[in-house]
Amino acid sequence: MLALSPNVDLLRKFHCLAYYARHLLFPMIQPAYMSANALYTDLSGYYDLMCVDIDYRAQSHSIDRLNQIFGNSGKTHLDLACGTGPHIRHFIDLGYQSSGLDINQPMLDRATIRCPEALFTLQDMCNFQVDEPLDLITCFLYSIHYNNGMEKLKECIRSVHSALKTNGVFCFNAVDKNKINNSLFARHTAKEADSIFSFSSGWNYCGSGEKQSLKLHIEKTTLGETQIWDDEHTMVAVSFEELQALLRPYFDVHLFEHDYDKIIPWDKTSGNAIFTCVKI
Ligand SMILES: C[S@@+](CC[C@H](N)C(=O)[O-])C[C@H]1O[C@@H](n2cnc3c(N)ncnc32)[C@H](O)[C@@H]1O
Repeated sequence: MLALSPNVDLLRKFHCLAYYARHLLFPMIQPAYMSANALYTDLSGYYDLMCVDIDYRAQSHSIDRLNQIFGNSGKTHLDLACGTGPHIRHFIDLGYQSSGLDINQPMLDRATIRCPEALFTLQDMCNFQVDEPLDLITCFLYSIHYNNGMEKLKECIRSVHSALKTNGVFCFNAVDKNKINNSLFARHTAKEADSIFSFSSGWNYCGSGEKQSLKLHIEKTTLGETQIWDDEHTMVAVSFEELQALLRPYFDVHLFEHDYDKIIPWDKTSGNAIFTCVKI
C-alpha cells in the first residue's frame, strides 16, 4: 500500500491544478461529472428533452402492426426498460393493457405521471417476473443492450420467453457489434426555459469481446454558465448471428430493416434491425 502513496500525491496535485483551471481560468464552465448513468437518475428530468426528435408514435404503431401480423391477437403488453413511458402511452392509446419495468425509479416516476393507467415495476430486465403471461413484450431504443454481458442477455431472453403466452411476440431493436462506427455521433440541441441543451451520443466498440459502450455528452447553458455531464454506459456487445443463435431455441425469429414507417425484411448487411420473435 505504501508504494502507492507517491501516486496519490501526484493525483492530489493534478486535482488541485484541475480545480484552479476550472474555477479561476474558466469560471463559466462547471466541473464535468464522469458518471455511469446520470441521464437516468439525476438528469432524468432532461431525458424527454434529449429524445424530443424520436418518433415514438411511429415506433409504437409499427410494432403494433408486427404484433397483428405475427402475434396471437392479444393486447396485454409489457415494455422492458420503459424509461419515462413514451411507448406505453401510445400502446395504451392503441387499446393495449400496458405495463412497464425499469431499473431506475426516477424514470418510473415520470412514466407514472405520463401513464397513470399503467402498472410500473422496478425490476432488472435480465430477471423479471410478471403476474400473468403476456401477449407482447417490447424493448425499445437498443435498451436490450443494457443487459450486463452475455449471461445476463441469455437470462433476459429466458425471462421474456417464460413471461409470454403461446405465440406471444417479443419485439426489440439492436445493433450489430461488428457494424459499429466509433466515430459516428448523433447530436442535437434543445431549448427549455432559459437554458440551451446540447446532447450527443454514440456507440463505441473496441473490436473484440462482449462489451460495448454508449457515450453521452450533455451540456446545459443557462445565462452564460455551462454545466457538462459525460455518461458512459457499458452494454452487451453481440453480433446479429450470435443474437439469432441465442433466440432460436425459444422463438421463431424474423429480422426487419430498422425502419418504423415500412416493414422491410432485413437485408443481411444493415447494422441495425428490428427483431420480431414469436414464442415457440
Ligand atoms: C435509452 S433508455 C430507453 C427508455 C425508453 N425505452 C425509450 O425508448 O425512451 C434506457 C432505459 O433502460 C433502463 N435500464 C438500464 N438497464 C436496465 C436493466 N438492467 N433493466 C431494466 N431497465 C434498465 C434505464 O433506466 C433507461 O430508462
